[in-house]
Amino acid sequence: MSRKIAPSILSADFAQLADDVDRVASEADLLHVDVMDGHFVPNLTIGPPVVSSLRKRTDLFLDCHLMIDNPAVLLEDFANAGADGCTVHIELGDPKPLFAQMRDLGLRVGLTHNPDTPVDRVLPYVEDIDLLLFMSVNPGWGGQAFIPAVLDKLREARRVVDERGLAVELEIDGGINVETASAAAAAGADILVAGSAVFHADDPAIAARRIRETAWPNGS
Ligand code: DX5
Ligand code: ZN
Repeated sequence: MSRKIAPSILSADFAQLADDVDRVASEADLLHVDVMDGHFVPNLTIGPPVVSSLRKRTDLFLDCHLMIDNPAVLLEDFANAGADGCTVHIELGDPKPLFAQMRDLGLRVGLTHNPDTPVDRVLPYVEDIDLLLFMSVNPGWGGQAFIPAVLDKLREARRVVDERGLAVELEIDGGINVETASAAAAAGADILVAGSAVFHADDPAIAARRIRETAWPNGS
């Protein structure tokens, strides 16, 4: 198991994004980039140009969570912009063509599912992917409350992944803070995404470190 913190820039100040990334970089293992298109989710955020700008300012792994209707048309742009991995939603339908496209582009392959989507929808793909993301809020906004029922799905996936000896990383996203991090880690999360709990804190690096220490008190 890996033990990683992925600050979500959705809660950063986009007018000073590079500075906010610098403020958290020492405690970040990846940078989570929430891409929303106003269709798959109502909200609108950022796309490949911002990834390209970030790429020039940080060596952190750029973990792009695509909440968009048509990832196929943008994957190449994300790869060219310098994304390290892209994660697509199972709710769009058969993800295998997207996986093939991501592999061809040299992207790490991620799959995710909404809180109400059964884990059985994504488990058939665990051998095809590098990352399985559990949404612990309904996607669209930062700052929402953690949905604890997601932990049962995470535990089930952890069991399957360990039983088969797979290297796929399990990531959880939404409502992660010092109150919820230990339950997420105990259920088997490798990567904790945290947006508002990190970037709305006075010191984002200290906030990220506290989440890490709460999740994995015996070190990483
Ligand atoms: C929600 C996004 C999350 C969001 C999490 O749609 O996918 O990554 O940034 O924000 P917090 O940590 O504030 O719940
Ligand atoms: Zn996300």
